[in-house]
Amino acid sequence: MDKNLGIKWYQTLDSTNSQAAREFDQAPEGTVWIADFQSAGRGQRGNRWESKAAENLTFSILFRPVFLSPAQQFQVSQAVSLGVQRYLQGKGLDAKIKWPNDIYIGNKKICGMLIEHSISGDKLAGSIVGIGLNLNQRKFSPYAPNPTSLILETGKDDGEYIRREELTQLLGYLCTAYEELEEGFAEELDAEYTEKLYRLGEFHQFMETDADAPADMPVEKMAPGREITARITGVDQYGCLELEFPDSKRRTYPFKGIRYII
Ligand code: BTN
Repeated sequence: MDKNLGIKWYQTLDSTNSQAAREFDQAPEGTVWIADFQSAGRGQRGNRWESKAAENLTFSILFRPVFLSPAQQFQVSQAVSLGVQRYLQGKGLDAKIKWPNDIYIGNKKICGMLIEHSISGDKLAGSIVGIGLNLNQRKFSPYAPNPTSLILETGKDDGEYIRREELTQLLGYLCTAYEELEEGFAEELDAEYTEKLYRLGEFHQFMETDADAPADMPVEKMAPGREITARITGVDQYGCLELEFPDSKRRTYPFKGIRYII
């Protein structure tokens, strides 16, 4: 891809992903839409994404992975997750990827992603990668599940992170990981993604879920779901999570079929 990214910086937008979708047809690959504040920021599973004005990074970048088939779309998710993970690792943090593409430090979420793909025939015509990365925010809504931020994690005490500088650095990591995908390193990216998975190989509690429960609903309040103990062994080519049970049986779960109990 062309590394000359066109950055469109707004004070307010409803959602950078929505703006990217509105401009999708004309926008060149690498266009970035960033907003100081989103009035209707969107999260996964139909949730809202709340972020204090001008404290964090809330942006979307457009990729055009026409070299992938729709069935391979999870590879985009793997590459961009690694882009953010490597950026945070570069800050000295032990960042992990909570499947499919949240980024965690310990048991706390520092970054969420909303990736929206468009398909044309048998190709991926575009992927709008929306990223919400907490940089300088110290106080969060009590409804936000386990949030943290870069400043809280690094303990930086000589002033706030400068958002434009962090955006430039992060975009560098994102484009590098995406280019690795474009150049045919999907297997290597898959191996690195697996290695960086949050809770890889450790037995933990999960809940089998019904697709309609909101992501931030506490598990105690969910409609009865089966609680299971299992360990993550990896993801399959479609991005489903592979779990192994204590009796060594294995099962794969789609995104809406399983939830971590943290
Ligand atoms: C999640 O963890 O639920 C995903 C959050 C994704 C939030 C980002 S902020 C920039 C972009 N625009 C949106 O409306 N959402 C994504």
